[in-house]
Amino acid sequence: MNAAELREIRKDFPYLNEDEVGKKVVYFDNAATTQRPKQIMAAVGRYCSYENANPHRSAHHLSIASTRAYDMARETVQRFIGAGHFEEIIFTRNATEAINLVAYSYGLTHLKPGDEVLISIMEHHSNLCTWQYVCKQTGATLKYVYLNEERQIDMAAFEAALTDKVKIFAVTGAANTVATCPDIAPMIRAAKEKGAVTLVDAAQLAAHERVDVRALACDFLVFSGHKLLSPMGIGVLYGRIELLNEMCPFLYGGDMVEYVYEQDTTFAASPYKFEAGTQNVAGAVGLKTAIEYIEDIGFDKIVEQERRLMDYAYERMRTLPYLDLYATPCKNRGPIIMFNYKEVHPHDAASIMDSYNIAIRSGHHCAAPLHHYLDINASCRASFAFYNTTDEIDLFIAALPKVQEVFGLGY
Ligand code: ALA
Repeated sequence: MNAAELREIRKDFPYLNEDEVGKKVVYFDNAATTQRPKQIMAAVGRYCSYENANPHRSAHHLSIASTRAYDMARETVQRFIGAGHFEEIIFTRNATEAINLVAYSYGLTHLKPGDEVLISIMEHHSNLCTWQYVCKQTGATLKYVYLNEERQIDMAAFEAALTDKVKIFAVTGAANTVATCPDIAPMIRAAKEKGAVTLVDAAQLAAHERVDVRALACDFLVFSGHKLLSPMGIGVLYGRIELLNEMCPFLYGGDMVEYVYEQDTTFAASPYKFEAGTQNVAGAVGLKTAIEYIEDIGFDKIVEQERRLMDYAYERMRTLPYLDLYATPCKNRGPIIMFNYKEVHPHDAASIMDSYNIAIRSGHHCAAPLHHYLDINASCRASFAFYNTTDEIDLFIAALPKVQEVFGLGY
């Protein structure tokens, strides 16, 4: 991505426009949620203004238009992640709900005492608390695989943990903290050979590199729209059709039935069986437009730009003696730098940075076990998107010592 292309892209994002917002804000909290280009809001506005009706329910033209918009969004997601079947794409509220769907509809009914669920220590709570619950309900055991010195999954430990007892292997495609992108394809293959069902949490991956569910050969994969330029409230579950066909619904209600009797119900086929209630068609339209926007730029350029930002930021941060950094950039790492001031609490640091219009995140980032494992309570996190610039990193780097100054510490 050259400078002129980047300048054009940034014009699409109202919040990056200094004149419109009245101040220059450096937004480095993209792992929490991305900013939205105006094309997405325009598409959502068009749907809400001219095609809004309850999909699937009515025979009138507006309901048909709404159904068509919803179907087209599903087709776009199917193509985006390389799924073989339209029926394998289920719209949810977000990645968390998608994991819960699998946990309730597959985990609760398939796990039994003595079985194991294997996850990594760098999972987000959505791919961790959910399995804690399922294991407590079923008597299964939740096991972890830990990290090596490079904060990559320790493959020897993974192989040792992967016994015949493991029935579900659920792993992040990109950690929202130490940014590790584990080499998941061989792990998925190994887990399947042991007879485990596999789930990939692609919440931090789908906006940053091409995800291909058939190449990965995973059983389930989830991601959220809002980390991929879309409005909040729309997410995706990909499920292998054979598994979805035998799974029970997650939520019960309207539009997920074949027929309903007083005491019994027969259910619609996937994906409808898993989408009870009025669907978030506007969100799906937003997600479709976001995917098209990303595809227009192309993942080659996105990866190149985000790697440039990572390298640029890391090279400047690693020389600052008052910081601890938790990951080095490499090809197996997403555009996130987790760090701490040696003597300042992350919340104080983030608030002071905010007073300089630098937005970063602080806390445990919904990954408390990872923080315990690293022997810290919390951290700061700067996370980049393709629309960020090295100039913004310069502003961020210039603000870092201000935090030291406030506390009378040297830099
Ligand atoms: N899961 C989001 C994050 O990592 C909210 O910040």
